[in-house]
Amino acid sequence: MPRIEPFEPSIHSDREQIYSPAEDTRLLLKAALQEVGPGDRVLEIGCGRALISRELSLKARLVVATDVNPHATRMARSLGLETIRADLFRGIRARYDLVVFNPPYLPTAPEERSPGWINYALDGGESGRETIIRFLEGLPEHLSPGGRALLLVSSHCEIPRVIEAADRAGLGAQVVDRERFFFEELQVLKIHKL
Ligand SMILES: C[S@@+](CC[C@H](N)C(=O)[O-])C[C@H]1O[C@@H](n2cnc3c(N)ncnc32)[C@H](O)[C@@H]1O
Repeated sequence: MPRIEPFEPSIHSDREQIYSPAEDTRLLLKAALQEVGPGDRVLEIGCGRALISRELSLKARLVVATDVNPHATRMARSLGLETIRADLFRGIRARYDLVVFNPPYLPTAPEERSPGWINYALDGGESGRETIIRFLEGLPEHLSPGGRALLLVSSHCEIPRVIEAADRAGLGAQVVDRERFFFEELQVLKIHKL
């Protein structure tokens, strides 16, 4: 369980403390734009600078953007998005037709952590899968009937073990898009309840 700093209502949104959209963002956005429908109620976990939530809000019935990082939620709110600051699904009771998450997936030892809130964008725990596994465990009770999720994963976090974790949570996963870079392969998993 990550340590969650208390909410500081007067905090200013510091862009340097928010993940800057990268190849993983763009691959997930492409898959999400292909997947979303006009009637969908969408939840983006870990919205960062809210690029994906903003694009989806032009196509979906509803988009809720969440992040554990208060700089990110403040930025999303300033862009007019419905926003919740939360650790994954904590305190979120509604179910959604589409859940989207580009998680922190880098294997990170305690001494490798970055200072500040940006660490939450990168630090996947020692295995790279710590946040992903907690996400998969919470997902089933937040999917509406027929609901689906798109999860960005990297070869850094051993994708077959992510799929095994999904199975243990009662979820099926298929690869719907992938891209290879010289240092990693990124995949988008489409996940549904079994
Ligand atoms: C790799 S960044 C992706 C940001 C953005 N969605 C994008 O694709 O550019 C991961 C995001 O997840 C957020 N995050 C990490 N752990 C989280 C948690 N337990 N609950 C909610 N958000 C979390 C981070 O703060 C960060 O904004």
